Amino acid sequence: MCGIVGYVGDKSVCEVLTGGLSALEYRGYDSSGVAVIADNETKIYKAEGKLQNLKDLLAEKQNEVKTARVGIGHIRWATHGIPNEINAHPHTNNDGKLAVVHNGIIENYKELRAKLEQQGAIFHSETDTETVAHLVSQKYNETHDLKEAVRLATKELEGAYALCIIHKDVKDTIIATRRNAPLLIGLGEGENFAASDVPAIIEHTKRAIYLDDNEIAVLTPNSVDVYDSDNNKINPKVELLPWEPITLSKMGYKHFMLKEIHEQPDVIRNFLSGKLHTADSKAILNEVKLDKESLKNLNRIQVVACGTSLHAAIVGKYIIEELCNIPVDVEASSEYIYRTTVTDEHTLVIGVSQSGETADTLTAVKQSKARGSHILIITNRPDSAMAREADSLIPVDAGIEVSVAATKSYVAQLMAFYMLAIHLAEIKGSADENYLKEIKNELLVLPQKIELLLTKKEKIQKCSRMYSSSKNFIFIARGINFATALEGALKLKEISYINATGYPAGELKHGPIAMLDETLPVLSIMMTGKVYEKILSNAQESKARNARMIALTDSTDEKLEDLFDYVLNVPHVHELISPMMAIVPLQLLAYYIAEFLGKDVDQPRNLAKSVTVE
Ligand code: M6R
Repeated sequence: MCGIVGYVGDKSVCEVLTGGLSALEYRGYDSSGVAVIADNETKIYKAEGKLQNLKDLLAEKQNEVKTARVGIGHIRWATHGIPNEINAHPHTNNDGKLAVVHNGIIENYKELRAKLEQQGAIFHSETDTETVAHLVSQKYNETHDLKEAVRLATKELEGAYALCIIHKDVKDTIIATRRNAPLLIGLGEGENFAASDVPAIIEHTKRAIYLDDNEIAVLTPNSVDVYDSDNNKINPKVELLPWEPITLSKMGYKHFMLKEIHEQPDVIRNFLSGKLHTADSKAILNEVKLDKESLKNLNRIQVVACGTSLHAAIVGKYIIEELCNIPVDVEASSEYIYRTTVTDEHTLVIGVSQSGETADTLTAVKQSKARGSHILIITNRPDSAMAREADSLIPVDAGIEVSVAATKSYVAQLMAFYMLAIHLAEIKGSADENYLKEIKNELLVLPQKIELLLTKKEKIQKCSRMYSSSKNFIFIARGINFATALEGALKLKEISYINATGYPAGELKHGPIAMLDETLPVLSIMMTGKVYEKILSNAQESKARNARMIALTDSTDEKLEDLFDYVLNVPHVHELISPMMAIVPLQLLAYYIAEFLGKDVDQPRNLAKSVTVE
């Protein structure tokens, strides 16, 4: 997390930097700052809180920065030290001439800091990054060469970093380098850029160099030179960025989250186009690069993911096991990477990630790749680090998701699992043809059904108001909708800060039932199918303990009105497809509760859209 931008050229430096930082707000938004060299001085401006605070500060100081031709900027998601002005980047050295912005974590910063302090460095912040400022400064005093100073300093750093560094005595120059954190260099005419991600620079240029680990770039207005870690000048590949500058708009919705929820029917249509024409045609999934024989012989699938993507993976397990008869293990990437796993060349490993950048999932994927597994990546960012590790890549094409709470990327990931499972089942002949036809037909008509649901939001809004003062929530479900319960609870937690738990309904009586009383809402996800009657019984058990009863169902059984205080109806869908339908009212429920409580829906506290630290 954290976003960095660097600019050297003739435009208004602070405008380019803050414009770039705006596009990187998904990486963090608890504080921000810029450093520029103006009037022969390194000037640093920082602000706690949202980026707007920095923009306001810079507007006041515009006379102080107007001669600048070089600058670096940072938007922070705090790791070391609370989010305040002192800990905000850029950080500097004792004489204040050097400034550094950093994304990543310096793991050996304590040892380095102790050593540097002994040698006279004076620290002001609690960050790991300040160590880099002092270390590079020390090397610069020895070498009088900023690139060499950065090269020597980074050899002593452990952990992950993307860095941009400027120094008052090195005219119109940025030194940029990275290891296990993203950084690209944008190439312009008489100007150059560095940034954590494409949106920060796409307005200015479509030509870019993706730096590899340990490479160092030296940027001036008219040149970009790239060196490897042994100081050899190299010829990096210049890529044309397949992006158009877009103005992200809420299109009249109050928040991006609400807009993104409403985009879901089109996301499904978009995913299906070219992949599934009719219920009678076969699924086309050319993205899977394993040959038919290997697919037929697959005997195990391991899926790794985090957060909402993990919940999509759990649904994926149910779908693949149902249609393809292949065992699927799903594990949180953060757990998978720190234990002995038996994943090998006979296992298909699927990494699922909206951003394609999540550090834990990226590490899990790299580990499995090293063990010889075929890597299939399902992501919304086909240009991401994870996508670059892929042997097979399924882009979910949900479009840019701005809201930190994932919504449309979730249904897009589910679509990828449906199509993958259908494709595999058709190759293996593992599912009854009529059954597959029914599922395909259900997928094709699903967008209209969700659209219908989205025209009837009043009941969900009313429910949100009634339950918004609850301190806790339990979501229960069985079977394929167990993941829906987890995802519904996650949505509520992350944007309303209400404690919510997703539970397999059958497990309620093994402990959590002790919590039930007349203050606790229990939301039962009761989609018709194999487990409907079972979950009905579990709901009865909650009713007997006086819980506040909410049902989410596609059943038209009128008797439900007697058992439940509130019934949220959705159009009927096949049980295997039901997670696609059931999640929508839960996204809306979380949205309306958070909105009613006056929370910052699109940028909830403590979170970031892209989690690039382990
Ligand atoms: O980009 P990824 O899908 O890998 O991100 C994983 C999680 O950080 C993400 O899903 C997070 O849980 C969202 N805020 C959920 O809404």
